[in-house]
Amino acid sequence: MSAQVKSKQRVQEHGEVFTNEREVNAMLDMVKQETERIESRFLEPACGDGNFLAEVLRRKLAVVASLYRKSPTEYMRYAFVAVASIYGVDILEDNARECRERLYGIVEGESKAAIKGAVDSLFLDAARYVLEKNILCGDALTLKDASGDPITFAEWSVVTGDKVKRRDYLLSELLEGHNAQPSLFGESGSMVTDWEYDEETQAYIPSAVREYPPVNYWEVQRNG
Ligand SMILES: C[S@@+](CC[C@H](N)C(=O)[O-])C[C@H]1O[C@@H](n2cnc3c(N)ncnc32)[C@H](O)[C@@H]1O
Repeated sequence: MSAQVKSKQRVQEHGEVFTNEREVNAMLDMVKQETERIESRFLEPACGDGNFLAEVLRRKLAVVASLYRKSPTEYMRYAFVAVASIYGVDILEDNARECRERLYGIVEGESKAAIKGAVDSLFLDAARYVLEKNILCGDALTLKDASGDPITFAEWSVVTGDKVKRRDYLLSELLEGHNAQPSLFGESGSMVTDWEYDEETQAYIPSAVREYPPVNYWEVQRNG
């Protein structure tokens, strides 16, 4: 980020004032443990060009490098998990695009620094694809994307070894779920919605709107 403001008009129309690096780090330090947990999911609903998401990704990749730089295969698998856990929405298309490109640049730069010539182009292609799905242009108030369709996010879960399963969820249902969770049980204690208990997140989640068969993480584009 070079400046905190791009234009007066953008500030007036979209409240676009970027957060400086010192504040980003101070705020992320409040949840430091989560920023250093490789699979911990982050969603920024007004992500701009990615000041917060870029720092989260840098922190996660630093952990991946410290644990796995001696094994390029492991490094790439965990770096995929790190990038696939980061989500963003911005109402301005140029911001969403810049955010995606910035995050991709971090994945490429950090992986080349960590495992040098061993970086596989398929890993980088998969990271780019995931960022296209995870960083969207849309309205975080109406929960619609730039085409007017409901914002849908993909969950990428490692099922076994290198295999990743993609499930798509409506953002509106994920948010509603968060608030509705305490009223999930009727007076008898039985479930009153069709949500499922997810062992990974240890929470009730809505049904996926679409599921894909597991594929190797470097082949996630095949389902696209
Ligand atoms: C104050 S800036 C913060 C940007 C970034 N989070 C940061 O801290 O540097 C607010 C951002 O929200 C975006 N924005 C404004 N209204 C929005 C909406 N309804 N949905 C999604 N993004 C929105 C703007 O385009 C701008 O990038």
